[in-house]
Amino acid sequence: MRPDDLIKRRILLFGANGMLGRRTAARFLANDRVETLGAGIEEEPATEGLEYIRADVADRASVKRTVYDFSPHAIVNCAAFTAVDRCETEREAAWKANVKGVEYLAEAARVIDARVVHVSTDYVFDGRRGYYVETDKPNPISYYGRTKLASENALRVSGAEHVVLRTNVLYGPAGGTSFDFVQWVVESVRAGKPIRIVTDQINNPTYADDLAEAIARCANNRARGVYHIGGREFLSRYDFTMRIADFFDLDKSLITPITTEELTLPARRPLKSGLVTLKAETELGYRASGVEETFRLMKRALDL
Ligand SMILES: NC(=O)c1ccc[n+]([C@@H]2O[C@H](COP(=O)([O-])OP(=O)(O)OC[C@H]3O[C@@H](n4cnc5c(N)ncnc54)[C@H](OP(=O)(O)O)[C@@H]3O)[C@@H](O)[C@H]2O)c1
Repeated sequence: MRPDDLIKRRILLFGANGMLGRRTAARFLANDRVETLGAGIEEEPATEGLEYIRADVADRASVKRTVYDFSPHAIVNCAAFTAVDRCETEREAAWKANVKGVEYLAEAARVIDARVVHVSTDYVFDGRRGYYVETDKPNPISYYGRTKLASENALRVSGAEHVVLRTNVLYGPAGGTSFDFVQWVVESVRAGKPIRIVTDQINNPTYADDLAEAIARCANNRARGVYHIGGREFLSRYDFTMRIADFFDLDKSLITPITTEELTLPARRPLKSGLVTLKAETELGYRASGVEETFRLMKRALDL
């Protein structure tokens, strides 16, 4: 056994209480060779058994203190201002959390030689073409997308060793108060509530545990640069909802197809999107789960 094998890898997980943060915390907690410290703006951790500290990613002093005190090998950033429509009007707060926060993390990471694993989005693209690969040119059409692209650029110029994992339409058994599309569809329709779902937004919805697995790999390997992490199938949000309805035996008459334009939301959405995952498959050994397989896992985990 090498001396390195005796040292647990320390992982600092920002945004530990968010939907992806919870699944990532669970993934790290399942590995007894990793010591994980969760960080977030809430008082308490959402995950039982997770060591946790209150820290605001948008506060430079708070980030520095947290990073230097724990001295992690890797910093995973699942924290973000994710309310896409609110980003249009709450620009300063969105910029602080999504861009300045990443700058602060990268700055502290560089000082202690930690690597940063950061999560970004397909909203860096304009959605005109779809099936995006890592080398496609970003062109965000919302303020949220602009902040996330700026976060990627901030990392690139920071000098910190880093990986950016871009993902789209995350779903999974987050539990608690976290928003999850599948759970929302199942619970709304079962409660007899009609829902309207867009037919013109195409993605490959990503199971949060698949992304958490990719994050765990990147926290422990030497991968660098941008990787796309998405699901196995490209389909419209409406078709995805129909798959949910089929699996959970829901009343489809409560699900109405509409267009994105009809929703009149403050922020524009990329319509033809979706992320090609070939690079992640080849270089990280990434494997997306099948759609129905993920529904089965969610049914069991959430008792849906
Ligand atoms: N969900 C998706 O469909 C999707 C798609 C593509 C990319 N992504 C990316 O995936 C990542 C995780 O998203 P998610 O769905 O897990 O979002 P989420 O559930 O909203 O989680 C984000 C977490 O960050 C926390 N946070 C916000 N501002 C913070 C701050 N200043 N300091 C510390 N923590 C802060 C939030 O706390 P509060 O809840 O208390 O504000 C929340 O716990 C994000 O980078 C997002 O851009 C998500």
